[in-house]
Amino acid sequence: MNSRRKFLQTALVLAGGMAISSPKQVFAGADSYAGIVYTKKNPGKWAKKVGSHLPQVTVKDKKVTILTDHPMGEKHYIVRHTLVTADGKVLGEKTFYPTDKKAESNYELPQGHASILYATSFCNKHDFWVAEVKV
Ligand SMILES: [Fe+2]
Repeated sequence: MNSRRKFLQTALVLAGGMAISSPKQVFAGADSYAGIVYTKKNPGKWAKKVGSHLPQVTVKDKKVTILTDHPMGEKHYIVRHTLVTADGKVLGEKTFYPTDKKAESNYELPQGHASILYATSFCNKHDFWVAEVKV
C-alpha cells in the first residue's frame, strides 16, 4: 500500500509540473526535481540503481521498446512505463504486475512522430525514472 501511495504522490507532483510546463521542461530540468525524478545524469540517492532502473529504449523503424532491467517479484517490481512526446502527448503506457516476467513494453510511433521522446519507469521501491531519447 505504501508503494501505491508513493506512486500516486509522484504522479500528482509530475502532473502538476506538466500542467505548467512541457515534459521537456520538466524532465530536462530534473535538477529542480531532485528526489522526485531520477535520471542517468541525476540519479540522486539511487546512484547505485541506475543500471536496474533507468528505462532502456530501442527504436527500430516505428517500433519503440522500453525495457527496465529489473527483477520482478511480489515485494519489489516495476509498476509502470510510459512513453511521452516533448509536447506532452502520451504515446502509450503499460502497467505491470509482480507476476510479470520482465518490465518491457512496446509502442508504435505515429506518423510524423516527435524527435524527442521521454520514457518513464516507476519502481515501487526506487521511485520514478526518466530517459530522454532522440529518434
Ligand atoms: Fe527497484
